[in-house]
Parts: sequence; C-alpha cells; structure tokens
Amino acid sequence: MDVIEVILAKRDRGELTTAQIDWVIENYTSGVVADEQMSALNMAILLNGMTRREIADWTKAMIRSGERMDWSVLDRPTTDKHSTGGVGDKITLPLSPLVAACGGAVPQLSGRGLGHTGGTLDKLESIPGWRALLSNDEMLRVLREAGAVICAAGDGLAPADKKLYALRDVTGTVEAIPLIASSIMSKKIAEGTSALVLDVKVGSGAFMKSVPMAQELARTMVALGQDAGVNTVALLTAMDRPLGRTAGNAIEVTESLEVLAGGGPSDVVELTVALAREMLAAAGISGKDPADALRDGSAMDSWKTMIRAQGGDPDAPLPVATETEVVTAPSSGVLTRLDAYGVGLAAWRLGAGRARKEDPVSAGAGVTWHAVPGDSVTAGQPLFTLHTDEPGRVPRALESLEGAFDIVEGGEPDLLPLIIERI
Ligand code: URA
Repeated sequence: MDVIEVILAKRDRGELTTAQIDWVIENYTSGVVADEQMSALNMAILLNGMTRREIADWTKAMIRSGERMDWSVLDRPTTDKHSTGGVGDKITLPLSPLVAACGGAVPQLSGRGLGHTGGTLDKLESIPGWRALLSNDEMLRVLREAGAVICAAGDGLAPADKKLYALRDVTGTVEAIPLIASSIMSKKIAEGTSALVLDVKVGSGAFMKSVPMAQELARTMVALGQDAGVNTVALLTAMDRPLGRTAGNAIEVTESLEVLAGGGPSDVVELTVALAREMLAAAGISGKDPADALRDGSAMDSWKTMIRAQGGDPDAPLPVATETEVVTAPSSGVLTRLDAYGVGLAAWRLGAGRARKEDPVSAGAGVTWHAVPGDSVTAGQPLFTLHTDEPGRVPRALESLEGAFDIVEGGEPDLLPLIIERI
C-alpha cells in the first residue's frame, strides 16, 4: 500500500477502506508514514469528514496499536468518566473517589492540560509526593486499596493516539469530530472500563462551540463505546462559563476538597453528583446515593486513601502563588456574562498551563472569580484574584479578562443549562 494513495482518496472525498486505515495507523505508529504525510491526511479528514464505519475502523486500529487493559480480577464493576475538556473542570477529582465510596472501581486515565484547558494530572501534581506515573501493577494495587486511581496513560496504551494527538496539536487539526471521537474512545476502550460516562462540554471554553456539534460528537462516541462492549452514555454540559470559582492547579484541588467535605460551589456539586449517578447506573451498581457519600465523609475517606496510595500526603499544605493581583468590578449591576475561554486563557497566561508539551506548570497559578453570572456586583468590589509566581505574566492575563465579562444594570444572563441533554 502507498500512503499517497490514502491521502489522495480522502482529499478527493473518498471513503477509506478498512485495509487502508489499518495500514496507515500501523505504519504511522512504527514511523514508516512520516509526520508530514499524516498531517496532510488529518487535514483532509478535518475538511472532508469520515463515515461512522471509517471512524470505527480508525478507533479499532488505534486500540490495536497498543495493549488493552483488563480489570476482571477486581471484585467490583469498573466505571469511568471522560470530559472533553473545559475551564475550571476539576470534576474528576471529587468524582472518582465519590464513585469508589458508592461501590464502583474507577480506573481513570487522565491527561495534562494544553492551551486554555486544564489537566487533571497537573492539578493533582500540586499535592506533595503524588505520582501520576504508575505501572499496571501499581494501578491494580491502588484500585484494590482505594476503589479509584487517577493516573497517566502508560506508553503501551494507544501509542498511535499519543503521536497523533501531539501532531494534531501543532497542525490545526484538533477540532475534527472523527479525530476527537477516535482519540478519546481508543484510550477509554483500551483502558478496559466496562462502563463510561462522557461529559461533552459545549461553549466558548470547549472544543465544541455549539450544541449540534456537541450532539454529533457525543452520538459518535457513544456508538463507538457501545460497539466495543463498553456501556456508554453522554451528558452535554455547559462550558459557556467556567465551572466553580477557580481555574488553575492547587486552587482547584482546594475547591475539590470543599466538595468532598460536603460544601463547595453548587455547580461543581450538581455536576459531580449527576455524573456519579450516571457512572453507577451504567455499571449496574445501586445502593448508596452519591449525595449521601459527600455528606457522610466516605467520599473524603476514599480520596485520602487514593492520594496516599499514589505517594501523596492528603494533609500537606498545598502550594500557594507568591503574587496576587485583584481585579475589581468597573461598574455596578448584574454580572450577565463570564466567558470560559477568557478565564481559561488568563489562568494559562499566569502559568497554570503550558505553551509546549514539555513546559512545567506552576502549581499555585490560576484565577479565582468572586462572582458568577446572575450575581449583583458593586463597582469597586473584587471580581477576580489572579495568582502567579511571575508578576511579569499579569498584564497579558489582564488582557484576556478584558472582554471576558459583562456587567449590566438590571440585566439577566443568557446561559446554557448546566446539564443540557443526556445521550
Ligand atoms: N481529548 C483527547 O483525548 N483527544 C482529543 O482529540 C480531544 C480531547
């Protein structure tokens, strides 16, 4: 087979055969197909799309590029969640131990942030001693001890996706539904979970800016999961404003601890409990209600066990940024808009995210907002606190917040519902 022939077929709006897809994924993983050739093919896919059959074949070929994990030795059903990425989206932190406290086993493979969206591993790495890199045996040990593990995908899991995702990131080909769906689902199917809940984000802070696009992505991923024998459902949830009150690393861990202690921002609690109920139902687990496990301290106990089992000290003080800058409300009225993308960009520019994959992140950096859409604010009251270790980063962060909110006298926010739809 010849890679040029495959590129030309997709460039000219053809449907790739199973043999072509298998060949191209196998040979890209082994280095026979060059990055520039795969970039051209990715761009042709972004522009011309793929049929459901092509997406399914592409996903299967990516799974076959590595190992498929197996948790059948556990005495409880596995269930997991994946978010398509957002701003202030710390939900995995309270959710995984919460589901463990209600009887599920959660083998959560997470990622690091890139661009304006945060990464679960970056947040957890602000906890002194906590390790993201675990062997398969260590994952099993943590799952047995805590009922939940959150760690990085090892090199053996969907290696084709690792190469492809890094390539897409630098070639303007991230936002293609066939490529996003196959990327996410190849990892989640290879991870070996028996049930999966997808949190598909919609709005300015998400990859999918509109509800119809998010619906298409969700339906494609649910079909891929069901075909692979993973009981999969999706919730479409709002990312037109950021989640909770913080975007960053350690500050998001602190907010997650508030939720695990039975408090925390109402939107984070509502989404965490809704996703936990879906994860338990998808795995056929009934019994304890997640809202009770937040109230009675059992979710917090699971969190502490999980953090300790991964080398972390759950009681150690978290890093704090050396500098803060307060932004006040320029006028009085109702906060009618708080744009997720602008807030995410500010947190990223303060050092919470990275510009290149190999860059370190600052554990203490990020943004806290003191009002949410619908709140009345008074001119001069604090609206945001910026946290950073490098004061030189503040002006660019301020720029990204400039057009990111509206205050209107007597105004009303026009927001997406937090949970838009279940698919
Ligand atoms: N998350 C992934 O893992 N892959 C994508 O393509 C987008 C988000």
